[in-house]
Amino acid sequence: MKTVSSFQVLKNNNEKIAMLTAYDYSTAQVLDKAEIDGILVGDSLAMVALGYENTYNITIDEILIFIKAVARGAKNSFIIGDMPFMSYNLSLDQGLENASKMIKAGANAVKLEGCNEHILQLVKRCVESGIPVLGHLGFTPQLMNTIGGHKIQGKTAGNTDIILKSALKLQEAGCFGIVLELMPAESAEYITKNLLIPTIGIGAGVGCSGQIVVTDDIMGKFTDFVPKFVKKYANIHEDMIKGVEEYKKDVKELFFPSEKESFTLSSEEKLKLEASSKIVNS
Ligand code: KIV
Repeated sequence: MKTVSSFQVLKNNNEKIAMLTAYDYSTAQVLDKAEIDGILVGDSLAMVALGYENTYNITIDEILIFIKAVARGAKNSFIIGDMPFMSYNLSLDQGLENASKMIKAGANAVKLEGCNEHILQLVKRCVESGIPVLGHLGFTPQLMNTIGGHKIQGKTAGNTDIILKSALKLQEAGCFGIVLELMPAESAEYITKNLLIPTIGIGAGVGCSGQIVVTDDIMGKFTDFVPKFVKKYANIHEDMIKGVEEYKKDVKELFFPSEKESFTLSSEEKLKLEASSKIVNS
């Protein structure tokens, strides 16, 4: 069973941390069998699994269903539940209650975006209550309207230092790691080197302690939008279209189902059926 300390051990041993997202039971089973270092049930599922334009529409009750499915599929992995937009911003009690719902649903930790006084207090409350927290800085999709689109963060030394200050505060508050999204490799490496806890990069170069990407992106299953930082390891969308076309052709041309995919009556029952069909037709 992996714990938060597994992440720190990997960082301390200079071994990179490999994380991926999962939203459903069968994907979780795959990641679990491949012994991935951590699974994030990301709010990216709003776009990837539910077809929304951004992450704003996913609710705590909806994401809990996905966390439960992933927890059923990934028995040995460390599962992190992503706290949806406005599920932790209203008050400390609201944040703590929703974080605890994620743990009860099967997550081992939660992820929160950003860093302000409220977030820092909430991280402390969660950690004191036994809920490990992964921070998230750089590009934070839940602040898309404030940021004004998918903009690279930390593009100057000054901005990188501001992100580092936030990262240090999150570390101090008790985060066990921090996701660094969409920033120059040098900036992410600088932040990583100045932290004790691991950083998990997404579009942030090789200098982070580990990497996370959306599984559906790297497997070529989700094709609406493919960011520059995505490397494709499979082409599931294309392969599935080919498979569906082949299936359709087989159905139309009576190649499916064949005897192999069918159940048959015993010869005795077949004769009886033939006999009764004669009666019906007489
Ligand atoms: O929602 C998500 O998938 C994320 C990324 C860090 C992968 O937050």
